[in-house]
Amino acid sequence: MVDLNVESSMTRWDIDRIINSFPVSEVLRRHMYGTARLAKELSLRFSENPQKAYIAGCLHDMCRGMSDADSREYVDINGIQVLEMEYKSGTPLLHPIVAHHYLREKQIVDDERILEAVRYHTTGRPGMCNLTKLVMVADILEDSRDGDFEEMRSILDLNNIDDMVREVLRFKVDYITSIGLKIHPLMSDTLKKLEKGVILSGG
Ligand SMILES: [Fe+2]
Ligand SMILES: [Fe+2]
Repeated sequence: MVDLNVESSMTRWDIDRIINSFPVSEVLRRHMYGTARLAKELSLRFSENPQKAYIAGCLHDMCRGMSDADSREYVDINGIQVLEMEYKSGTPLLHPIVAHHYLREKQIVDDERILEAVRYHTTGRPGMCNLTKLVMVADILEDSRDGDFEEMRSILDLNNIDDMVREVLRFKVDYITSIGLKIHPLMSDTLKKLEKGVILSGG
């Protein structure tokens, strides 16, 4: 078991050991470290803990390289309750759930906000903490992404983290709709609240 105490200095080696517990391509690894760097940069603008932002960014997609069958099997074996749409989707909607469960059960991470950021980085949720917001934004806007994401980077000029999350969620909802998939209820609830100008909890 890796003792990953967020208060201690964690090396790239520690993080890689955790990430390597699951299949990970070099593209995915670059994305996770890119997310970590941007989440840390944003944390300094929004008075968040940079070390926690970095760790959450590194770990958020650690289960994204699993096959759909393996993600479903993990959920089955561990008796994790998921929505039908999450189960059907396989890894795209199960990877945050599997990573969150693994990090908690193996006692690798005990920080509730890091765990929340990993668990909800895909959909968001009303009332989510600032760390989750930073990881959601960094996940979409980090440097190693290309294509349409380039023009999205102006989102980083916004002064408010809730505004950034709203724009990121609008982009995700448009994309998911365009490929004919259903929007996760947590994602639509979060976006509706943000569009009504409801400030998410922060903290
Ligand atoms: Fe993800
Ligand atoms: Fe990601």
